[in-house]
Amino acid sequence: MDLRELDTPALLVDVDRLDRNIAAMAKSFAGSEVALRPHAKTSKCWEVARRQLDAGAVGMTCSTAAEVTWLRAHGVTDLLWANVPVGPGKVALAVEVARQGGLTVTLDSVEAARPLSTAAAEAGVTVPFLLEVNTGHARLGVEPDHAVAAAEAITALPGLRLRGVLTHEGHIAASADRTSLEEAGTAAGERLVAVGEALRLAGHPIDVVSVGSTPGATSAPFVAGVTEARPGTYAYHDANQVRLGSTTIDRCALTVLARVVSVQRDGRAIIDAGVKAMSSDTIAVAGSVGVAVDPAGVPLPGVTFAEANEEHGFLFHSGGFAVGDLVRLVPNHACGTTNMWSHAYAVRRTEVLAEWPIAARY
Ligand SMILES: Cc1ncc(COP(=O)(O)O)c(C=O)c1O
Repeated sequence: MDLRELDTPALLVDVDRLDRNIAAMAKSFAGSEVALRPHAKTSKCWEVARRQLDAGAVGMTCSTAAEVTWLRAHGVTDLLWANVPVGPGKVALAVEVARQGGLTVTLDSVEAARPLSTAAAEAGVTVPFLLEVNTGHARLGVEPDHAVAAAEAITALPGLRLRGVLTHEGHIAASADRTSLEEAGTAAGERLVAVGEALRLAGHPIDVVSVGSTPGATSAPFVAGVTEARPGTYAYHDANQVRLGSTTIDRCALTVLARVVSVQRDGRAIIDAGVKAMSSDTIAVAGSVGVAVDPAGVPLPGVTFAEANEEHGFLFHSGGFAVGDLVRLVPNHACGTTNMWSHAYAVRRTEVLAEWPIAARY
């Protein structure tokens, strides 16, 4: 089937670009000491996760309880839950999956650790965890100076075992240029390694030093002492990663297919893909909703996906659109767009190959 026969909007994954992105990231870690543990939240799609594992990933990273449950159901036995399991449902899931073996969770405070410790001890289970450290992103994570004290407090509780340290160096995306981004990634890796060393000196066995992001995948993991990288977005890449210099537009594998539904005003084409197809993630920062490319995936110069309402997108252009025309939109943030959809069509250029379910959405 040709994608011109699809109803729009539709989510498309270009399999050749996907395979190339997966192979390129796998190659950059092959032969190094650093294990690759891709973040599953970018695709939430087993066809993608399976390809990442086949390419040599040691296991997968999850953010939500639903992702843990979904990947476990697919038989993935080495999972990192890179989020703090707070609340009764998440605590119960963490204990149950840890009981089966192969789950490591993330903690950054004794307050979050207490209910997990109680549940684990009651079940006679030990839950392995990584201590999250703030290396600049200032989201989760203890400050580096407080890491030893936090580790002492958490490991004094029963039912928990410290395996290592983790950071998400997301702040490096705010760097002024690629050179300073690389420097910021290296600095984040160095901060995390130093915390791991301080914990070892304090008597804690630290086997895992885990960094993770797509823009940082060329810097942070290659600091001596880092053992694991958790990039996610790289599988699809997106317009943000193009702006950050992580990739080029011709490598972006995820697009939303849309049709022009109205051309009432000069210089504007209204398409049937808006915020509910793209997600509103990072629109303000990027100054556009995504990047328009033609049905074969080739960029359309002079066309700006400038605004979006729920089911309507505004393409600003210098002429040439007619009702019924097809466009593809590269999202700013692939992970946010994925979460809007229940399935994607796998395509090769304009040929539709298969329909892939997207799982573990809210
Ligand atoms: C904890 C954690 N690890 C890894 C990643 C992957 O980063 P990226 O999406 O830049 O590949 C994320 C993304 O937000 C994250 O939150």
